[in-house]
Amino acid sequence: MISVAIDGPAGAGKSTIARMAAQKLNFIYVDTGALYRTLGLAGRLGRVDIHNPQALETLLKNSTVELKFINGEQRVFLNGEDVSEKIRTAEIGAAASEISAIPRVREHLLGMQRDIAEKNNIIMDGRDIGTVVLPNAEVKIFLTASAECRARRRQLDFEKKGEKVDFAEVLSMIEKRDYQDSHREIAPLKPAADSVLVDTSELTLEQSAEKVMEIIVDKTGIEI
Ligand code: DC
Repeated sequence: MISVAIDGPAGAGKSTIARMAAQKLNFIYVDTGALYRTLGLAGRLGRVDIHNPQALETLLKNSTVELKFINGEQRVFLNGEDVSEKIRTAEIGAAASEISAIPRVREHLLGMQRDIAEKNNIIMDGRDIGTVVLPNAEVKIFLTASAECRARRRQLDFEKKGEKVDFAEVLSMIEKRDYQDSHREIAPLKPAADSVLVDTSELTLEQSAEKVMEIIVDKTGIEI
């Protein structure tokens, strides 16, 4: 099985680019952020104090998170309910960032991620895929862009969904999340030593996807 790890900060274009590449390669695209978002959602719904170890343990025990791939599209389920759309809000993004800093939570989700990679050719995106989850991935890419660029893109995403947000607010949210994701003690956001860095600040989506495809083809020898 071939594993492609794509890590990077929020809003760098990881999910869109990984999805495009997976389609071209006929690989499964796995968005690991959805797992943390789902646990973040579960915590918010149950008003759980996630920093209380006992309450967290109960939350993990009572929250069955499943990934299913329907027509090549990933859907995420919480206790049998498809929450794929519900988790895509700024509030749940923040909740995901907070819960993802807890070591017990990362350990809880590790096996599931490795299991999918063992059984399928995958492109997996997240923060620690190349460093922790799949250290032996054939291809590791660290996709990034300036905070301003990412904020502009995120603002457009929210607007498309009818969520009105202010640019300065999105930028500060992105900067806060960058800080939180890269300064936590466990599995912080950082490029794997053997990753290829791609900065998409000055690239269009198509150019970024092309660059990523070139790296994958170069590293794996796959013909498309
Ligand atoms: O990629 P995203 O915005 O959906 O991720 C939401 C949060 O989940 C992000 O702030 C950090 C966390 N996350 C993580 O810690 N490790 C991953 N592999 C993926 C996401």
